[in-house]
Amino acid sequence: MNKSTSNNSKSRSANSGAKRNLIRSRFAGGRLPEVEAFTASLPFDRRLYRHDILGSIAHARMLAKVGLLTPAEARRIATGLKQIETEITDGRFRFELADEDIHLAIERRLTAKIGEAGRKLHTARSRNDQVALDLRMFLRDELRAVVEAIAGLRGALIAVARHHLETVMPGYTHLQRAQPVSLAHHLLAYIEMFERDRERFEQALARTDVMPLGAGALAATTLPIDRAAVARELNFSRLAENSIDAVSDRDFVLDFLSAAAITAVHLSRMSEELILWSTSEFGFIELPDEFATGSSMMPQKKNPDLLELIRGKTGRVLGDLVAMLTVMKGLPLAYNSDLQEDKERVFDALDTIKPSLWVIAKLWPRLRFRVETMRLAAGGFSLATDMAEYLVRRGLPFREAHGVIGKMVRELAAAGRSLEDLSLGELQGYSKLFAVDSIKILSVDHSLAARSVIGGPAPRLVRKRLERFAEK
Ligand code: ARG
Repeated sequence: MNKSTSNNSKSRSANSGAKRNLIRSRFAGGRLPEVEAFTASLPFDRRLYRHDILGSIAHARMLAKVGLLTPAEARRIATGLKQIETEITDGRFRFELADEDIHLAIERRLTAKIGEAGRKLHTARSRNDQVALDLRMFLRDELRAVVEAIAGLRGALIAVARHHLETVMPGYTHLQRAQPVSLAHHLLAYIEMFERDRERFEQALARTDVMPLGAGALAATTLPIDRAAVARELNFSRLAENSIDAVSDRDFVLDFLSAAAITAVHLSRMSEELILWSTSEFGFIELPDEFATGSSMMPQKKNPDLLELIRGKTGRVLGDLVAMLTVMKGLPLAYNSDLQEDKERVFDALDTIKPSLWVIAKLWPRLRFRVETMRLAAGGFSLATDMAEYLVRRGLPFREAHGVIGKMVRELAAAGRSLEDLSLGELQGYSKLFAVDSIKILSVDHSLAARSVIGGPAPRLVRKRLERFAEK
């Protein structure tokens, strides 16, 4: 490259490449277009526009309250900002990359619309506390939506479980048939899991509900602002108590992403079970047509793509959490532009878990259960533990009872027979402790009802627990 070409390209990028934005007064030239594009968060943080505008209106009202704006200026700002909100909602707003982010884009437009008063809006404020405010307000709303989506799934699970208090199915350990449970009991396990998720999101909400504005860039301001007034107007429960923490803290994002990661894992486990249950090998459920996909080549296929995708998308959410933890781990206080990476992780996690929760909640009430197949699968050797416990009740030490039933199972399995095939006489051949009443324990219904300790699958208890959840 000779000198004159390099000079040419330099002047092109400096003068015509980028438009000036509001904050480049100390620079002689513009940025390289590539730098401008790389630096901008506008393509994604425009999603915060409503919250940015709400925050700015509250800020302007506070500035008027303390005398830094006249009431008329604050009114002009609020009116201008509301018009801008409509412009953006209607798709009439012209976004320009030179503005870097949604904060500067809105401020530039406001000044173009209302002039002088617009230039006063950023008094005693930095984009560092502004973006923390916007993201907290946005996430507050979204966390409430996630909690609602979880409640929706819980409602669907409760409705299904109520119909299946006595639908017997095998419970598994190591994916081997273990002991009979009911479908309702199995579903209650998920209800408990999602209830813990709900709690985690509520806790994340409480820690998100903290008002950072007034921290300025990092060290607050000499101007006599009233932070509590802003918090009141924006319905925040608390003020951030340290200006450095206020702009550098993203723990609330990590709280949300951790909770989202756990929820995604729960959704993934649920999807995995439904996929298994829908196989010919299990045959426990029939997927409704509206939720299944065909194959481009094999005409007979009915594929659970939806569930596979919920399971597969878990990787994104776990990735979002790890990405954000990694962003944070080496950051000196206070604000650093690395933090700009937070928004896409939040959006991605939200856009993954909310639809997953919605769609799987729609699926549950439409699933058809093959209750006979499930009941059949629950019998056989699954009652071995009940039989050992019978002998325990008759006084045999548990380890001995375990040995008696283990031998029984070994011999029956070799002969291709099952526990239910045994006569009383044969039972007594294994232990004299077996009496007439021992035959009735060889029923899955009896087995369910008999496991009535707290947390057990007895239908009476499961119904009670379901009712407790239904009241929430
Ligand atoms: N776009 C920025 C972000 O998303 C806003 C704050 C920018 N502050 C700064 N000093 N560059 O975090």
